[in-house]
Amino acid sequence: MLKAIVHTDWTTGTINKNIYGHFSEHLGRCIYEGLWVGEDSPIPNTDGIRNDVLEALRELKVPVLRWPGGCFADEYHWRDGIGPRETRKRMINTHWGGVVENNHFGTHEFFRLCELIGAEPYICGNVGSGSAQEMSEWLEYMTFDGESPLANLRRQNGRDKPWKLKYFGVGNENWGCGGNMLPEFYADLYRQFQTYCRQYGDNKLYKIAGGANSDDYRWTDVLMKKAAGQMDGLSLHYYTVPGTWQEKGSATEFEASDWEITMRKALHMDELLTRHGTVMDQYDPERRVSLIVDEWGTWFDVEPGTNPGFLYQQNTMRDALVAAAHLHIFHKHAHRVQMANIAQLVNVLQAVVLTEGNRMLRTPTYHVLKMYAVHQDAEALALHGEFGSFSSEGGQPLPHVGATASKKDGVVHVSLFNMHPSEDASVKLELRGADAAYHEEAYVLAGDAIGAHNTFDEPDRVVPKPLQIAGQDGGYQVRLAPASVATISFKPKA
Ligand code: AHR
Repeated sequence: MLKAIVHTDWTTGTINKNIYGHFSEHLGRCIYEGLWVGEDSPIPNTDGIRNDVLEALRELKVPVLRWPGGCFADEYHWRDGIGPRETRKRMINTHWGGVVENNHFGTHEFFRLCELIGAEPYICGNVGSGSAQEMSEWLEYMTFDGESPLANLRRQNGRDKPWKLKYFGVGNENWGCGGNMLPEFYADLYRQFQTYCRQYGDNKLYKIAGGANSDDYRWTDVLMKKAAGQMDGLSLHYYTVPGTWQEKGSATEFEASDWEITMRKALHMDELLTRHGTVMDQYDPERRVSLIVDEWGTWFDVEPGTNPGFLYQQNTMRDALVAAAHLHIFHKHAHRVQMANIAQLVNVLQAVVLTEGNRMLRTPTYHVLKMYAVHQDAEALALHGEFGSFSSEGGQPLPHVGATASKKDGVVHVSLFNMHPSEDASVKLELRGADAAYHEEAYVLAGDAIGAHNTFDEPDRVVPKPLQIAGQDGGYQVRLAPASVATISFKPKA
C-alpha cells in the first residue's frame, strides 16, 4: 500500500516563490513572436507584447523572470536596445541561428513585460564580451534616481523614475559560452565586476555569480572559496537530456524506456543540489549564499523542419512529470535553493506556452506550474510515507509516487505525482496534527498516453481535471492514473 503522511503542524521552512521562476532569452521565437509582436501587429497586444501570452502568464503567477540570456547575455550590449526603435541597431544573433536581432525588445520593454505580468525582473549582465564599465552604466541607467548622464538618458527615453531591480547576474555560463573561463579566472573577474554593480538609493542588488555546469563541483568550490563574501547567490545549470548532446531524442516520439531514462536524469537534480550544497556549506555554514538554479528543464531534438538554432520542442506528459519532480526536489532543498528558472518561457526548450502566428497553447508543463503555484511562499510541511518504486530496465529504481506538501493561510496543499508510465497508483493520504475538518478540492493532470500533448488544433487535450478523492479510515484514498500529477487543497471548514 502506497502511503503519504503529511504533518500539518511541522513546518520545515518557507518555499521561496522564486523557485517558480522563468527564463526568457533572445533565442529562436521566445522574445520575438513569442512575447514581442510590436505595437503595429495584427496580433492583439499591449505596448507590443501579445495579449494572449500576457494573460496566460498572469494566470501562472510568474514570480521572477530572467533576461536577456543565457548565452545571449554575454554578447548583449544594452545600449543597442534603448532609444527610438527605428534607429536601434540591427545585428546578428551569432549564438542562436545567426538571425537578425533588431533590438526592438530592450531594457524598457523587458521592464514593461515584468510589470504587465507582475514578475520581478532578474537581469543578467555581460562579462564575457563586455566591460565592468558597461555593466556599471547599465545599472546606473536602470536604477539611479538623481542627476547623471545615464539617468538623464533614461529620462530622455521616456522613463522618469528608475526601475526597482533586485536580482542581477554577473555573467552566464562563464565556463562555456560566457567566455570559456577557468573558475579561478572567473572568480577574479566576478569580484572585479561586482565591485562596480552599485546600489543606488534604496535599490539593493542581490548579486548572483555565474555558477557551475551540472556536476562541476570544483567550479562551486573555487567560486565559494574566492568570492562567497561578494555574492548573494551562486547559480547552477542542469538540463534533462535523455540521449546525448548530439542525439537528444524526440520530444514526442518515445517509448516507456525513454520515459524511464528521462525521469532518472531529471531526478539527478536532487544529487546535484545535495552535493553543490555540501560544498557551499564548507564556506557558508549559515547558508547566506543561495543556490540559484537559473536554468533547468528538458532539452530534446528540435521539432522536425524547424531551425536547429531555435531550440523549439513540443511538450508532453513526460515534461509535466519532469517539472513536478523538479519542484518536489526544490521544495526539499528550500533551505539553500532560493530561486529556480525553468528554460524557457515561450517557444524554446521546456516552454510553458507555445505560439504559432496568432495562436497560442498552454503546455502540460504550464498546467503543472499553475497547479503547484499554491506552494509559492508557503510553509513546507514534513511528510513521510511509502512511495514504492519501479524499474523495467534493471536501472536505478524510480519512485512510483512522489509527494510534497505545504501550508498557507491555514490551507494545506498536497501535490502528488505518479511516475509510472503504465500503472495506476493508489495512495493512502493522511493529514496528521490537524484539528480541523477540511473541505477538499483536487485536480489532476493526466494524458491518454505518455506522449500526450496539446496542439494548436487541439490546445486543451491535456488540461487539469477535477479528481475525486474518497475518505477512508480517517484519511483519504487517492487514485492516480499512470503518468499523472495532482494537487489537493484542504481548506478548514468554517
Ligand atoms: O537555454 C539555452 C542555453 O542553455 C542558454 O543560453 C545557456 O545558458 C545554456 O547553455
